Amino acid sequence: MCIAMETRVWNGVLMIAVSLLALFNVSAFAAEEGEKVLTLDHSNFTDTVSKHNFIVVEFYAPWCGHCKALAPEYEKAASILSSHDPPIVLAKFDANDDANRELASQYEIQGFPTIKILRNGGKNVQEYKGPREADGIVDYLKKQVGPPSAEIKSVEDAANLGDEKKIYVVGVFQKFSGEEFESFMTLAEKLRADYDFSHTLDAKLLPRGESVNKPTLRLLKPFDELFVDFHDFQVDAMEKFIEEATIPLLTIFNSDPSNHPFVNKFFESPNAKAMLFVNFSKELGVFQSNYKDVAVLYKGKGISFLLGDLEASQGAFQYFGLTEDQAPLLLIQTSDGQKYLKANIEPDQIAPWLKDYTDGQVKPFIRSEPIPEVNNEPVKVVVTDSLQDMVFNSGKNVLLEFYAPWCGHCKQLAPILDEVAISFENDADVMIAKLDATANDVPVDTFDVQGYPTLYFRSARGNLLSYDGDRTKEDIIDFIQKNRDKSAQAESAKPESTKSEAVKEDPPKDEL
Ligand SMILES: *[C@@H]1O[C@H](CO)[C@@H](O)[C@H](O)[C@H]1NC(C)=O
Ligand SMILES: *[C@@H]1O[C@H](CO)[C@@H](O)[C@H](O)[C@H]1NC(C)=O
Repeated sequence: MCIAMETRVWNGVLMIAVSLLALFNVSAFAAEEGEKVLTLDHSNFTDTVSKHNFIVVEFYAPWCGHCKALAPEYEKAASILSSHDPPIVLAKFDANDDANRELASQYEIQGFPTIKILRNGGKNVQEYKGPREADGIVDYLKKQVGPPSAEIKSVEDAANLGDEKKIYVVGVFQKFSGEEFESFMTLAEKLRADYDFSHTLDAKLLPRGESVNKPTLRLLKPFDELFVDFHDFQVDAMEKFIEEATIPLLTIFNSDPSNHPFVNKFFESPNAKAMLFVNFSKELGVFQSNYKDVAVLYKGKGISFLLGDLEASQGAFQYFGLTEDQAPLLLIQTSDGQKYLKANIEPDQIAPWLKDYTDGQVKPFIRSEPIPEVNNEPVKVVVTDSLQDMVFNSGKNVLLEFYAPWCGHCKQLAPILDEVAISFENDADVMIAKLDATANDVPVDTFDVQGYPTLYFRSARGNLLSYDGDRTKEDIIDFIQKNRDKSAQAESAKPESTKSEAVKEDPPKDEL
């Protein structure tokens, strides 16, 4: 099945996760002489992991192109790290192998490759969020195997916090003991994959100075107010503070890769997401300042703000079904998938439109292709705007395919669906239909479309089933015959059925 792309893919950062095209490119990882990466499978995974305080596992699939690209780097890192003290063990696990799948599913593998760090014999599982070339892997893992927070004793130590584009969390204490310090260390252990933690007795050593006279959690960040202090040392409170303080007021989306971690964070947030797309080289000025004012106004009120450069946003436009002539545009996507759109927005319309939105005055934007004027092929074309009429209210038994134009399995299925449709050509109660799910919003409360093709069958009286059988003409026809409602005779026998929407304009059907 072709994998439905998720929101995050369009920003180009997480393309690593999903390899769509490499399906047939099967080649096993040959076990080379002196290979340092451990091979694990279902028979020895648990046992091996339980013997290690710290072990890194790559979950891969043999067909995945990004896994193949990673393999030599991973091997090189394993070889360097094998002489580290203590040694750091890197392992790999074929999550695609049938016998291994059950174990892999316990680790919630969403894409390949996924790398996890397992600590304490596997009791603690942590996502690997480091680089994917050998030196980067080595540096990241050395840091991960060490203490969760590093002490800053000197100006030189503090100079390590010098990367102007990164976020650092520093605990400032009078002594390295006591409840606050312990909580800080617990937090550092918990979030070590995401942020750099350090602790110090002297805040004046820190790059963005200012001393303090009580235990302080100081967050250094490359945007907005540059550093923020926090004094509540409850682990949950600190975590929430960091979560919020590390989201910039405006997340910038352009081709600069140093912004990409923030773009990822933006999409991971449960907030409603406001996205303003303008042409940075033409019209940024007033748009940016007005948008920023709005972002300040709504801070902490459940909306996050992204400012995207039109030049870098083709993927996003395709994903949301937008066109460049609608720019400058402001789009809001809520956590339940609703969208709201203001196309061709002017700078001074930003604030009033957002107010209308928060007042519930803006209607959701539902993407649909136009209803086709001619629709006389055997397989009927359904678009979001015709879904009600053609599928839900037609009184027919409908087999509906959700497809993507680029999906190979859909192309293979197309002639089969044609044949199925032709075999029902003289049967007015049955319709075979298709919907391009990349160009139409699919009602998520009714259909669960995780990949393409996805097939649903709705019987004339409204029984909705997903079709998971073989994609052959015979099996599909069988399924339809088994699950269809014989509306004509069955319904006319029931007096109350005249009001049923499923049987309006129901043509009498000749069973012979
Ligand atoms: C786990 O089992 C597989 C298959 O038998 C083997 O190739 C691999 O070397 C084993 N790994 C370990 C660490 O024992
Ligand atoms: C953005 O504006 C520049 C300068 O006016 C123009 O050359 C470019 O084509 C525009 N880009 C888009 C995607 O409209």
